Amino acid sequence: MSARPVVLLLSGPNLDLLGQREPEIYGSATLDDHVAAARAAAADHGLDLEHTHSTSEAGLVEAVHAARGRCAAIIVNPGALTHYGWSLHDALAAFDGPVVELHLSNPRQREAWRHTSVVAPVATGTIAGFGAAGYPLAVEAVSRLLRARG
Ligand code: DQA
Repeated sequence: MSARPVVLLLSGPNLDLLGQREPEIYGSATLDDHVAAARAAAADHGLDLEHTHSTSEAGLVEAVHAARGRCAAIIVNPGALTHYGWSLHDALAAFDGPVVELHLSNPRQREAWRHTSVVAPVATGTIAGFGAAGYPLAVEAVSRLLRARG
């Protein structure tokens, strides 16, 4: 068990293809690059970062359950599950700490089906549209939220 608060970073379906997948939308960095940037930002803020990637909603739900009582906060990029993953919504609703929803792109500028997030109502806040910079920004948001909680 770490002495530092643990932040869980969750990555949903197709994010393992970052760097190859639609680089004009998602950029050229890989998921490993984003995790490394988030981990470095976490260390700067005195936080530990764990990362879980799953292509399935069940995998993400199980990771949220395992974080209960153990992790201080969750940063989640749910991929397309953002738009229809109601069991992920429910799992996050049962998590006590801050939840930051994160997207590389700005889904509201894109196809209409991406304009609804079922995660947003159970997130403390959302960071979207800043590309790779979103990962360290999300860590900073979590750090501020945790400090505000004392
Ligand atoms: C995404 C946006 C989603 O709409 C999409 O399905 C993704 C990636 C983003 O990071 O911009 O897979 O979450």
